[in-house]
Amino acid sequence: MKQRETWGTHIGMILAMIGTEVGLGNIWRFPYLCGKYGGSAFLIPYLILLFAVAIFAVMCEWTLGRFTRRNPLGAFETIKFPQGTKVGVWGIIGPFFLYAYYIVVSSWVLFYAFASLGRAYFKADAEAFFVNFLSSPAIFLVHIVCVAICSAIIGLGVRKGIEKASKFMISTLFILLLIVVLRAITLPGASKGFEFYMHPRWQEMWNLEAWSAALGQIFFTLSLGMGAMLIYGSYLKDKIGIPKNALACALGNTSVSLLAGFALFPATFALGMEEVVHKESIGLTFIVLPKLFVRMPLGWFFGFLFFLLLLFGALSSAVSIQEPSVAWLIEERKWSRKKAALFTGIILWLLGLPFILNGWAKGGLGTKLSLLAKMDTIIGQLALPLFSLLAVIAVGWVMKNGFGEINKNARYKLPLFFKHWIRLGVPLFISFLFISTLAKSIKEIFGFSVSESTLLMTFIVCLIIWGGFAFLTRMALRVEKEKEML
Ligand code: PHE
Repeated sequence: MKQRETWGTHIGMILAMIGTEVGLGNIWRFPYLCGKYGGSAFLIPYLILLFAVAIFAVMCEWTLGRFTRRNPLGAFETIKFPQGTKVGVWGIIGPFFLYAYYIVVSSWVLFYAFASLGRAYFKADAEAFFVNFLSSPAIFLVHIVCVAICSAIIGLGVRKGIEKASKFMISTLFILLLIVVLRAITLPGASKGFEFYMHPRWQEMWNLEAWSAALGQIFFTLSLGMGAMLIYGSYLKDKIGIPKNALACALGNTSVSLLAGFALFPATFALGMEEVVHKESIGLTFIVLPKLFVRMPLGWFFGFLFFLLLLFGALSSAVSIQEPSVAWLIEERKWSRKKAALFTGIILWLLGLPFILNGWAKGGLGTKLSLLAKMDTIIGQLALPLFSLLAVIAVGWVMKNGFGEINKNARYKLPLFFKHWIRLGVPLFISFLFISTLAKSIKEIFGFSVSESTLLMTFIVCLIIWGGFAFLTRMALRVEKEKEML
């Protein structure tokens, strides 16, 4: 049998991992959340939850992948997770739904990169320009181009395709981001933006909603719960120390998010558009930022650089969302990589069409994006913590020596205390994220309001549910073991 591929070089591996992490989530959503929840005070919940919770989920997904050396479905089967096939199938199907709308947004980015070069939006009203674009044939073209690029990268293989492309895209992204930041901070009046971003408003930090928003953002930005980390982990070499490298990638990703803030806030304040930082919507990126570039000296050029770097981040993430299903077809159905990339590419292209056609529907911007926004809540915010919770349980409870596997061949090993933390603490926080997001979505749909005390109650309910769940998993495993012994 042909040997399964691994990442070729250490730096290639790191950049591929950062490639999946850095994406649309870093550049717009992170600065927006900082603006909303107290400027740099938001970094406190963000960093605490990153290092105390999410980083362990990354380690678990990598470990599950590397230990089994299989696709997300196969991985759950290999370790004999209770109902492993049913659980694992989510790691193949879930990403399809995420990809379907993620690539549509990525294709807007591609369009805007060109639109900046051609100064297409310079004379038009930014909102009308965007709405027109959503219902123009151009959108079909950029969509298919983005899907084709991702499928081509995947078709070339793990080393020659994904690793090479991520290396190029992510290193260029860092350079472009630095250039854009330099431009933003040297604009006259940029210091007000600095002040807003870096001056902590501590009272916001005590808002429980900020903590739940931070955790949601971290899970999305670290690409957890979509099989992406799991499948990339399955290409890790045995000699790679998981704890240190997971940390390095998370830090690389966080630095991009922070830098994005240094580009956005100084620029918006310098150009007198500070109201922008209080607005959020996927669409607003494409309405507000062009307005900013129009006012900036050499704005078309910096607009182009900005959208190009965003495109690189988005495409390197999209590739990782497509890879789990491709790996499954190769490993379980014995397809060639090229055929699997082409086939999944076609399905994913088709799945994107409803989101485009929704944009074609008549109506204002809100209705045009409604399908996309709903999908983002269901998949991006609810499905994600659920699947990564299962991966953490798999390593913490189901694998015989999961903790040992995390530390395997690592120079810097996790101390034993974290074994219990991974079993109890991490799942508890993820359940909290899941239930509080669920409560918030119910509120959005049915109009209930959720107060902080409800969130606190949610945390307690999670604690109880989690206790029951852990107990049942243990019981189920014991029964299975006894059956095996008979
Ligand atoms: N981390 C990516 C971003 O921030 C999104 C992503 C989520 C990619 C889940 C893969 C899996 O844009």
